[in-house]
Amino acid sequence: MTKILIDCDPGHDDAVALLFAARHLDLVGITTVHGNSSLENTTHNALALMELGGLDIPVACGCAAPLVGNATFAPHIHGKSGLDGATLPQPSLKLVDAHAVDFIIDQAERHRGELVVAVIGPQTNLALALRREPRLAQWLREITVMGGSTTTGNVTPAAEFNIYCDPEAAAAVFASGIPVRMVGLNVTRRTGFTSADVDRLRSSSRRVAGVIADLLAFYLARQRESFGLDLAPMHDVCAIIPYAFPDLIRYGQTTVQVELGGALTRGMTVCDLRAFHPGTRLPAQLAQDGHVQVALEAESRLLIDRVIETILAYP
Ligand code: BDR
Ligand code: CA
Repeated sequence: MTKILIDCDPGHDDAVALLFAARHLDLVGITTVHGNSSLENTTHNALALMELGGLDIPVACGCAAPLVGNATFAPHIHGKSGLDGATLPQPSLKLVDAHAVDFIIDQAERHRGELVVAVIGPQTNLALALRREPRLAQWLREITVMGGSTTTGNVTPAAEFNIYCDPEAAAAVFASGIPVRMVGLNVTRRTGFTSADVDRLRSSSRRVAGVIADLLAFYLARQRESFGLDLAPMHDVCAIIPYAFPDLIRYGQTTVQVELGGALTRGMTVCDLRAFHPGTRLPAQLAQDGHVQVALEAESRLLIDRVIETILAYP
């Protein structure tokens, strides 16, 4: 079973990703970061989700702001609390007595060669951990990221939210030389819950499914208002799925760089997909030299069915 640490900013889709990972993987810890809401809110939400799921997983609080500039939040998508739409239980679990950056380093050292770090929010915590402990490059098995896009962004035409919130951090992670698996909006925005899926959760008599149904109904309504999407995209669980069900997302190996300077394109993930287009010869070697597996397609319906079954299995 894959050992995984999830760095997150819950967030509706983060919530589902956490509950999914706790059932299928060896979830060694959770670290929190600014992003969908303030650090205070995302940390409270992570603890409340542990309470909801009856989970006893260490949670460490991380960075409140990006490496450069101020934090950006997404209340128009996730509400004021970062997880609006349901009343979550008060957390009884206490935070671990370590900063997220130190916690990531400790876990990587303890599980050398085995640990996957999943970053499903802005990448500030992991970038600082890499800066503080360069041996992470040897210790980590792999990094899996929800972030970026091979096509268009969501905050700007070019930039996806997690990368937009801390482009410098993302650039450091992609440039670290550690194998990275990136699933971006090109796949995740098409992989989500329909209102029928939400109803399926709601029709269960189980408490967790009922709370998740309320959360996703709120999130679906916000997706409709903001993007005209009739789907509640499960961006973040897409970064976790490959370790439980490896055949549901198809990846291609290549290079990814993060644009830091562009007036219009800051935060864009520049994925070299030239080798994937028929008739192109030049960059084939370049693509093979890359250390990023970029998600190209998903079995979206099957993936969401696995997620629904997992949520329904909670009490
Ligand atoms: C990403 O941004 C957040 O709003 C979601 O939780 C996801 O991690 C999608 O752009
Ligand atoms: Ca997230």
